[in-house]
Amino acid sequence: MSLLECTGVTKYFGGLAALHQVNLQVSAGEIVGLIGPNGSGKTTLFNVITGLYPLSMGSIRFKGEDIGGIRPFQVCRKGIGRTFQISKPFTRMSVLENVMVGALYGKATAGEDLKNARTSSEAILEQAGLSAKKNARISDLTLEDKKRLELSKALATKPELLLLDEVMAGLNPTEIKEIMNLIRKIQQGGMTIIVVEHVMHAVMSLADRVCVLHHGEKIADAPPEEVSRDKRVIESYLGEEFLLASS
Ligand SMILES: Nc1ncnc2c1ncn2[C@@H]1O[C@H](COP(=O)(O)OP(=O)(O)O)[C@@H](O)[C@H]1O
Ligand SMILES: [Mg+2]
Repeated sequence: MSLLECTGVTKYFGGLAALHQVNLQVSAGEIVGLIGPNGSGKTTLFNVITGLYPLSMGSIRFKGEDIGGIRPFQVCRKGIGRTFQISKPFTRMSVLENVMVGALYGKATAGEDLKNARTSSEAILEQAGLSAKKNARISDLTLEDKKRLELSKALATKPELLLLDEVMAGLNPTEIKEIMNLIRKIQQGGMTIIVVEHVMHAVMSLADRVCVLHHGEKIADAPPEEVSRDKRVIESYLGEEFLLASS
């Protein structure tokens, strides 16, 4: 059984089908890359999986259970964590307090008191390389730190499935490498991950499988090597330069 199973997922905004009949299955332990041009529906797919937007048609099952139509906090407590493309940390709280919000809001809320939330959040910050800045103000963080914080907040909810929306956007090559290492470490801890990313070398190296969206439709779903040679994917997104650069 797949951990996540999206069947015929369709989302309309007025007359626009942001997602049309998307089928996506993700098995436990996989890293799946989700790519496609701007506006192709990647973030919308995360938004319908996490209950932020209602589905227009189709179904979403997580661990065999239909989660279509339930609220975002319920989806979170079922075990799906996410980051946001545009992160909005609580600016009056410290780094640690922001992560603790995730811990208290998430799956383990029942029985999770403040002390436990602090301990688990400190461990997450340690793993994310942010320990030294746990008492820092949000306004003092670099962009990379903010991305690490966004990831830490999601991890603090104790997900089984983690949805990452462009966590590498705007970072330099060294920072991208560091975030890639962090994502690998998280996967090695048993996490299943869907990565939305425009940094192609990162997706292709991290993902076991890559799905491609184009105008809300899935046009490819295959191992990275295969997707990077797919004619439709090259035409609609990657461009001939990618083929030349990777050959
Ligand atoms: N809340 C919304 N209201 C209206 N249209 C939206 C909304 N969210 C996304 N869209 C539209 O849906 C399409 C897919 O957007 P999005 O999922 O954000 O794409 P991506 O993340 O792949 O860049 C775009 O045409 C976008 O303008
Ligand atoms: Mg997006």
